[in-house]
Amino acid sequence: MPPEDDYTAGPFVPDHGGLPALREAAAGCRGCPLHRDATQTVFGQGNPHARVMLVGEQPGDQEDRQGKPFVGPAGQLLDRALDEAGLDPADAYVTNAVKHFKFMRAEPRKRRIHKAPTLREAAACGPWLAAELALVGPELIVVLGATAGKALLGSSFRVTQVRGTVLEEEIHGRRERLVPTVHPSAVLRADDREAAYQGLVADLTVAADALG
Ligand code: URA
Repeated sequence: MPPEDDYTAGPFVPDHGGLPALREAAAGCRGCPLHRDATQTVFGQGNPHARVMLVGEQPGDQEDRQGKPFVGPAGQLLDRALDEAGLDPADAYVTNAVKHFKFMRAEPRKRRIHKAPTLREAAACGPWLAAELALVGPELIVVLGATAGKALLGSSFRVTQVRGTVLEEEIHGRRERLVPTVHPSAVLRADDREAAYQGLVADLTVAADALG
C-alpha cells in the first residue's frame, strides 16, 4: 500500500462506460486500505437521472453485507423522512462519500462497530463521488452529515452552521446546489429522537422546496 498521503481511487475510475462501468470497476478498488476488511464495495444506487443525489458517510454493517447503500436502520429512517418531506426515495440516487465499511471489533468475532473514516480516506474515495456526480448530474445534492460535507465542501464544513440552507458551490468543476442536514444515524442516537427526526424532515423539506 502507498503512504497515506498517496491513497487515491483515481487510477481505478474508468473514463467511459457510464454508471455500470463505474460500479464494476469500484468493486475492485484498492485505492486505500479499507477494502481489506470490508465484505465488498458499496457503490451508489438509484435513478441514474435523479434530480436529487443523497450523499452519506460510508456503508454500515447491513450495507456491507448486502452491497447496497442505506438498507439498514439509518436507511429506513431516511426513507421515512424523505417521504414525509415530499421527496420520493425511489426517484433519488443514493451514495456515500466512502464506499467501504470501516469498523472495529471490541473483541475478536464480536459485533462490528462503525468507525468514522479519516479525511484522507474520504479524499481517496473522492474520484468515485466526482464521477457519480458528473454522470447523474443532479439538480440538488442532499449532504447527510459531517463526513459527506467535508468530502464535498472541505474540512471547515460544520453541519450545525449550514443545515437546512441551500448552498451554491463549485464542486469538481460543476456549479452545484446543496442542502446539508444531519446524518440519519445521528437521529437514531439522539436523546430526543423525535425532535431530531423532525429537524431532519424540516431540512429535507427545504430540499424538496428547492427542487420545486
Ligand atoms: N450510513 C451511511 O452513511 N451510509 C449508509 O449507506 C448507511 C449508513
